[in-house]
Amino acid sequence: MNKQSGFIEITSVCYADCPYCNAAKDSGHMEPGKIKYLLDEMKARGVSNCTLSGGEPFFHPDIYSILPYAKSIGMNLLVISNGTCVASELCQFLSAEYDVSIQLTFDGYNAESHDKTRGAGNFYKLTTGLRTLCNRGDYSGRVFLRINLHSGNIGQIDRILEMFQREYFDDSNTAAQIDLIFAKLLTSGGVEPGRFNEYLSKDEYLQSNVFRIFEAWNSTHNVKISYDT
Ligand SMILES: C[S@@+](CC[C@H](N)C(=O)[O-])C[C@H]1O[C@@H](n2cnc3c(N)ncnc32)[C@H](O)[C@@H]1O
Ligand code: SF4
Repeated sequence: MNKQSGFIEITSVCYADCPYCNAAKDSGHMEPGKIKYLLDEMKARGVSNCTLSGGEPFFHPDIYSILPYAKSIGMNLLVISNGTCVASELCQFLSAEYDVSIQLTFDGYNAESHDKTRGAGNFYKLTTGLRTLCNRGDYSGRVFLRINLHSGNIGQIDRILEMFQREYFDDSNTAAQIDLIFAKLLTSGGVEPGRFNEYLSKDEYLQSNVFRIFEAWNSTHNVKISYDT
C-alpha cells in the first residue's frame, strides 16, 4: 500500500486574519484545471490521499467540482479548514457526499480564549458546524481536531480537552472518528515579524505537560503530536 500523501494549497484567499498565520496570502485561487491536473498526477504515481489547504479551501469558488472530481478518480481527501463555513449547507453536503475528512483548529476552550487568535465569532461558527457534522447520520469522514499551542494557551490544554470530551466524544456523536493533533506554532513561512509574540521555545514546549497529556489521551484516542519545534 502506498502511504504517501499529496498536499495542495488550492487557494491563498482567507477572510480570517490569525496573527501567526504562516500561509502565503497573495496568489488568489488556484485554477481548477491545475488542481485537477495535480490530482491526476498524484493518482498516476499511486498517491490516493490528498490534503487540500490554503488559505481557506472552502472559499475556493470551484470547490463543488473539485471534491467530486477527486472522488471520481479515487482520491481520499482531507480538507484543512478554519471552520467558518463548516455549518453551511453546501459544506455539510459536500463533506458527507464525498466522504471528505476535515481538520479544524482550536486555539482555546471557549469563545474568549479561542477568538483571541482565530478572530471574533470563529468559535461559534466552528463549534456549530462541527456539532452539526457530528450529528449527521450520513457523514463518514474523519474529523481531526488540531490544537495550536503557544504560550497563551499551553496552560489550557486540559480545559480544551475537557470541552472536546463533553461536546464531541459523547454518545450523540455519530461521526466515524475524531482524532486529535497537538501542534506547536512555528515561526516559519509568511508570519509578519513582531505581530505574534507567543511562540513557545523548543524547551518550553518539551517541558510543558503536552507530552504527559498526549500519553494519557493516546491510550483511548488517536492522538498525533507535532515534534516540529
Ligand atoms: C495555514 S492554515 C490553512 C487552512 C485553514 N485556513 C485553517 O486555518 O485551518 C493550515 C494549518 O496551519 C496551521 N497554522 C497556521 N499558522 C501556523 C503556524 N505559524 N505554525 C503552525 N501551524 C500553523 C493552521 O492552524 C492550520 O491547521
Ligand atoms: S491560519 Fe487559516 S484561518 Fe487563519 S489566517 Fe491563516 S489561512 Fe486563514
